[in-house]
Amino acid sequence: MQTRKISDSVAFVTGANRGIGRAITEALLERGVQKVYAAVRDTGTVGDLVGRYGDRVVPLALDVTDAAQVAATAAVAGDTTLLVNNAGVALGGDLVSGDIVANARQEMEVNYFAPLEILQSFAPILKTNGGGGVVNMSSIAGLSNFAMLATYSASKAAVHSLTQATRALLAAQNTAVFGVYPGPVDTDMAKGIDMEKTSPQHVANAILDGVEAGTTDIYPDPFAEGFGQQFEDSPRAVEKQLAGMVQQG
Ligand SMILES: NC(=O)c1ccc[n+]([C@@H]2O[C@H](COP(=O)([O-])OP(=O)(O)OC[C@H]3O[C@@H](n4cnc5c(N)ncnc54)[C@H](OP(=O)(O)O)[C@@H]3O)[C@@H](O)[C@H]2O)c1
Repeated sequence: MQTRKISDSVAFVTGANRGIGRAITEALLERGVQKVYAAVRDTGTVGDLVGRYGDRVVPLALDVTDAAQVAATAAVAGDTTLLVNNAGVALGGDLVSGDIVANARQEMEVNYFAPLEILQSFAPILKTNGGGGVVNMSSIAGLSNFAMLATYSASKAAVHSLTQATRALLAAQNTAVFGVYPGPVDTDMAKGIDMEKTSPQHVANAILDGVEAGTTDIYPDPFAEGFGQQFEDSPRAVEKQLAGMVQQG
């Protein structure tokens, strides 16, 4: 895959206000990106970034599940060359006996259907601008199901699958498509997870290094790197190991 420079890019980042999305936005700006469309539900949450980086940050109001807002943001962000589908939710619940279906649907809306709709709006833009790139935020939980995050894992598997299809379909228009598979990252989303976590800043820089190097599957932290290696050697062994952990409690 060809390499690309962040400093040549105009980026569009969903969920740019906190967690990994904010860290990606800041890392893009520090690497000299031409412009970042910071797509967020509340544009006031990125006012400090505008204060620091000036008109290289363009806040846009976007709830990723709102099709009209997706179309409206695409209409103003026609110079985008790097789309980062980062916004996500992990709602969870008890898969077997609990009331989890509404949460599972919402996870699918935000983590899968939204990147799909955003892709449909931005694929023609990327084509017009020479190809560009798409970064989809999956998770190691999208490669093998973590039963305690069962429905979240399913939504991340769905976006992993979407990533594979997009890569195949957009190759002809010279769009590079990257799948990102983090382990535990120290953000609001993972605050209930009692494991060693990597900082969002480390993860953001590893993602951008991967984009610049043309690394198709990006494992942006030490836990993910180990997991990814094991998964690539034997997906079934990883599945059995995760099931064993659940059975041991
Ligand atoms: N943290 C981890 O351990 C981890 C591991 C693997 C993958 N990931 C993935 O990395 C991505 C970022 O996660 P994070 O840890 O940074 O989570 P986070 O701190 O909880 O932040 C989630 C971001 O998504 C935005 N968002 C949620 N629903 C949205 C909607 N309907 N429309 C627009 N924006 C919405 C949030 O905006 P608001 O502020 O408006 O709510 C926020 O900016 C997610 O896709 C997540 O699944 C995280």
